[in-house]
Amino acid sequence: MERVKKYNKTLLIDSSDSKGIKDCAEHLVNGEVIGFPTETVYGLGCDARNGEAVKKVFEAKGRPADNPLICHIGDKEQIKGIVSEITPLAQKLIDAFMPGPITVVMKKADCISDQTTAGLDTVGVRMPSNPVANKFLKACGVPVAAPSANLSGRPSPTGARSVLEDMDGYIYAIIDGGDSEFGLESTVVDCTGTTPVILRPGAVTKADIDAVLNEGEAVMSGSLADKETPKAPGMKYRHYAPYAQVEIMKMPEGTKIEGDDAIGSDGKIGKTSFTVEDLKKLSDDEAKELVNIVSPFILRSREILSSNPFARIGLYCGSEIKAMYDKMNDKLLSAHTEFCVYGKTVDVSCASHGLFEGLRYLDVQEVDVILAQGFDGEGLSVAYMNRLSKAAGKKEELTPGMPAPARPSRTPLPLDAFKDTFTASVLFVDDNNTSLSCAMESLMRRMLEKNEPYISNRENDTGVEIYCESAGLTAMDGMDPDSQMDKAVKEISGFGINSIESRRANPAIYDCNDLILTVRDEQAFAIIKAFPEIKDKVFSLSTFAAANGLVMKDSSGKVMSISVPDPTGENYETYLHTAKALNAWLEILFPYIIKELGAARI
Ligand code: TXA
Ligand code: MG
Repeated sequence: MERVKKYNKTLLIDSSDSKGIKDCAEHLVNGEVIGFPTETVYGLGCDARNGEAVKKVFEAKGRPADNPLICHIGDKEQIKGIVSEITPLAQKLIDAFMPGPITVVMKKADCISDQTTAGLDTVGVRMPSNPVANKFLKACGVPVAAPSANLSGRPSPTGARSVLEDMDGYIYAIIDGGDSEFGLESTVVDCTGTTPVILRPGAVTKADIDAVLNEGEAVMSGSLADKETPKAPGMKYRHYAPYAQVEIMKMPEGTKIEGDDAIGSDGKIGKTSFTVEDLKKLSDDEAKELVNIVSPFILRSREILSSNPFARIGLYCGSEIKAMYDKMNDKLLSAHTEFCVYGKTVDVSCASHGLFEGLRYLDVQEVDVILAQGFDGEGLSVAYMNRLSKAAGKKEELTPGMPAPARPSRTPLPLDAFKDTFTASVLFVDDNNTSLSCAMESLMRRMLEKNEPYISNRENDTGVEIYCESAGLTAMDGMDPDSQMDKAVKEISGFGINSIESRRANPAIYDCNDLILTVRDEQAFAIIKAFPEIKDKVFSLSTFAAANGLVMKDSSGKVMSISVPDPTGENYETYLHTAKALNAWLEILFPYIIKELGAARI
């Protein structure tokens, strides 16, 4: 379906802005589409009675129109106006769980557009418990049809920033109500018969539903007990898929660990560096259990790295697993691993809460594979595993030979998105600062611009502005750059090195940079020899790659170092070749440079 941008900018309305919320409600009643928060995930709302408005929602999501939308209400009184029958069973679930993370499917009333229900004679009704949703829906006064506010196929958004990422320019406004409480979509229950059929598991579990039934129990859609109900139509589409491949790491049966003690913050595990084998020998029961949980992550990571030494691996895991990695202190693994920690390893509600944002976050870090914690058992685990399996199912459902879907370009964030911003800078050094180091400065600038903004990898609220510059160990100040190199760099990136004047490297320049990268090894050694106190931030391209576990081998298996010969005096083709090589190395090193500067992509 063709997606057409309708607005220059989608408005972001704060939840405390009552006038803004009222304006959104008015626009919705007039046929516009509004993103709004709920306790499950963010929704993309429109007037459920207005077929034209519903079409706009499908367009903005890029979703096929044969998947019905849920109707949201702000007041239980509205239910009788939008359904033709409330069965005793439906009434029981409404009384027990509304407002809350449940959708009750009932026979629809005529006023609900066929576009909303995709031609079905039933409608899903949901009354969110989130106070901002409630205020907004009350202000609308009409039934609000809303799917999750993601681009079709992407993880559902559980924060306004993710909605903006997918919807900027496609809808009128988004109401920012902060983080969604549950993070997984509502439980969808068909109540048109006498037995409730769970079409989609969610935070209201089968056990919760069974507990309010006088007799009998709910059945899961598709299970043997479910004889007649067709599956929820939406379940047939690929859902929740990040761009990276997702793999589920199974939790060993019967695992029970209490995070803080298990990793030995009390000194039970006293060493600073472990191998998995070391840890297996530990007598402490909890530590052993932890090894069982962390082993699948480590073993699989090693397997991936042995077939692709450049792989970047994202872990969606608990804090103990991250702590275990930190303790192991395996340089190679750490250099290739990005973490998204949801909370304590065994806490499935934290894992559910953070899942969709976690998948999105790891995607932005451009990992190739995401290894995600799996859960056994009943209750919320069922809903969590339902979503995770869909995210992991991506590989099978892509047609072989089809190119991977293109990553959308990043949405720039509003400048005031962060409480604080600090700056970080990298310095490129060679001898004369008229050619290679200038080329690196210029090429790095383009990469920085393309990938910004950056956030501190320690703190959520802190942004990072990243700069780069260059200098030469034996340079004269104020020399013009090499015109051949200028032309070559311009040919690659559209920007040359014309504006860069050479300058001699000195302690003041070293001081104001957080990372110093030299083109050749001997240049880094020279700096460290003269200023040993800054040795921790000085690397050559080769030693920086090695320090990050990037070991490159040539076809005969020999370890390669990064060597970039100076093209001065050669023909233009040699310059171009050199500039291309520098660019390629920088592209490989870029994520590691960002990480070294204490930053992450947003
Ligand atoms: O938590 C949620 O339910 C979120 C928030 C925004 O309320 N909404 C949401 O909507 O997840 P959506 O459109 O992404 O998923 C709705 C699911 C789909 O699987 C759809 O097929 C099913 O509910 N569904 C909706 N109406 C139905 C009906 N009349 N009969 C059977 N299944 C229905
Ligand atoms: Mg959805």
